[in-house]
Amino acid sequence: MVTSVLPHAKPIRFEHKKELINPNIVGGLVAPPPFMLLGLVHYSTLTLPVVVQVVLRFAPTVDARNPAAQVQAPIVQAGRRQQPTADHDGPKPPPRIGQNRAVNTVRVGFVGVGQIAQHHLRTYRDVPGVQVVAACDTDAAALAKSASEYNIPFTTGDFRELIARDDIDAVDVCLHNNLHAPVTIAALEAGKHVYCEKPMAGAYVDAVAMAQAAERTGKKLSIQLSTLYSPHTKLAKRLIEAGHLGKVYHARSTGHRRRGRPYVDGYGTSSFVRKATASGGALYDMGVYHIAMMLHLLGNPSVERITGKTYQETDMDPGRRELGKYDVEELGLGFVRLGGGLTLDIVEAWAVHQSSFEAPSVYGSKGGLKLDPLSYFTNLEDVPMNATFEVEGADWRKHVLDPKQQWFDSPQHHWIGGLLGEIEMIPTAELALKTMLISEGIYLSERLGREVTPEEVAANSVSTAIAL
Ligand SMILES: NC(=O)c1ccc[n+]([C@@H]2O[C@H](COP(=O)([O-])OP(=O)(O)OC[C@H]3O[C@@H](n4cnc5c(N)ncnc54)[C@H](O)[C@@H]3O)[C@@H](O)[C@H]2O)c1
Repeated sequence: MVTSVLPHAKPIRFEHKKELINPNIVGGLVAPPPFMLLGLVHYSTLTLPVVVQVVLRFAPTVDARNPAAQVQAPIVQAGRRQQPTADHDGPKPPPRIGQNRAVNTVRVGFVGVGQIAQHHLRTYRDVPGVQVVAACDTDAAALAKSASEYNIPFTTGDFRELIARDDIDAVDVCLHNNLHAPVTIAALEAGKHVYCEKPMAGAYVDAVAMAQAAERTGKKLSIQLSTLYSPHTKLAKRLIEAGHLGKVYHARSTGHRRRGRPYVDGYGTSSFVRKATASGGALYDMGVYHIAMMLHLLGNPSVERITGKTYQETDMDPGRRELGKYDVEELGLGFVRLGGGLTLDIVEAWAVHQSSFEAPSVYGSKGGLKLDPLSYFTNLEDVPMNATFEVEGADWRKHVLDPKQQWFDSPQHHWIGGLLGEIEMIPTAELALKTMLISEGIYLSERLGREVTPEEVAANSVSTAIAL
């Protein structure tokens, strides 16, 4: 048992647990002999390192109190992991979970049916064992449109009415950042599991309150961190855990948009660019994906010290600036000292006069990785060597041999698979909380002009939650 980096108030305790995300096979690599030796080695022959995992209890039979609701789950379509070639004559995938047997159904209620909710609703169509039974939005027209398109039987403009319903097991929160905490905490208190959009909240102190509510109520809380489920990230995690990087000591979190500030540069609503609704800019919106991914790859280390700076310097359309009330950063820079002597540096841009940044990367004594597309760098016979991987083909074969892999296809597969008891979940709430700590640490470091500790971030964090 370890104590988290946090909080100012009551510490949250996390337990060490084995993570099941790991892998069976590294195959088909355009890679050096050491990797080829790993081809077709089953995971059960490998020893996994222990990782830190939030322990949030959940009864495996979601629908125990309503057995009649058990249904034959839809068959998941192969999606992006179709067999690699049309004339592939290898083994056929085994039946997927839910194809040949009834599975329990997780009944989900949505709060917010805006842009990202539409993506969630579409994705749930491909996830076995889930049914969207209710939706809430203050925009009546948007609500009616979603209800009709996705056949949602119950709608309301008041989220409290939704979370009070007995026929809902889990709530999917698709509201803007400063609304995440109030709705998530209320839903947890109402006995629902919660899947919430990133960033976890508008302020670190609110994210802590969300994690504490999950622990207090014994309900599961998962945060949308889609980068953890990319085949590239999953393979990178396996390579690191199998020791191919030697001693890992540094990681670099990067995200680049040449001109991609929401609203003022086009895409998205003004809610992304004002502190009143979003609290932060590039770091909160996109940095969260890359920082959380690097924490995950580094084994979820503790956060010890943070320093950084943010900018808004490049020009923008004056009319849109005024209309959008733009007051967040477009560029965030950070340097973080982590537990175990590890370090992480961060550069996240919504807008910058540069053509690109290098992709996120991890450095070890024996090798390094660059993400998406995944590349590996090492020395062979004292000669520097750069390798790439046939990630998609290997990922497809892995799914053929291990049907549970489908539960790691997306954050929503993972969330539903966890609720159904099919998999042990990645501690996304813990990763998202540490990511909040780092982002808010960068803001505080800028304000104080120096490096800051997690305790200082906690002590200075002010709730941005909107009272509902
Ligand atoms: N849009 C994206 O591409 C995207 C991608 C990833 C994550 N996200 C995250 O998703 C969240 C929502 O973003 P979005 O783009 O979907 O925003 P959006 O503005 O499109 O949707 C938000 C919805 O919430 C509704 N709403 C506001 N207050 C409400 C209340 N009190 N009760 C019920 N409904 C209420 C609004 O009417 C709106 O329909 C943000 O946290 C964002 O960071 C968005």
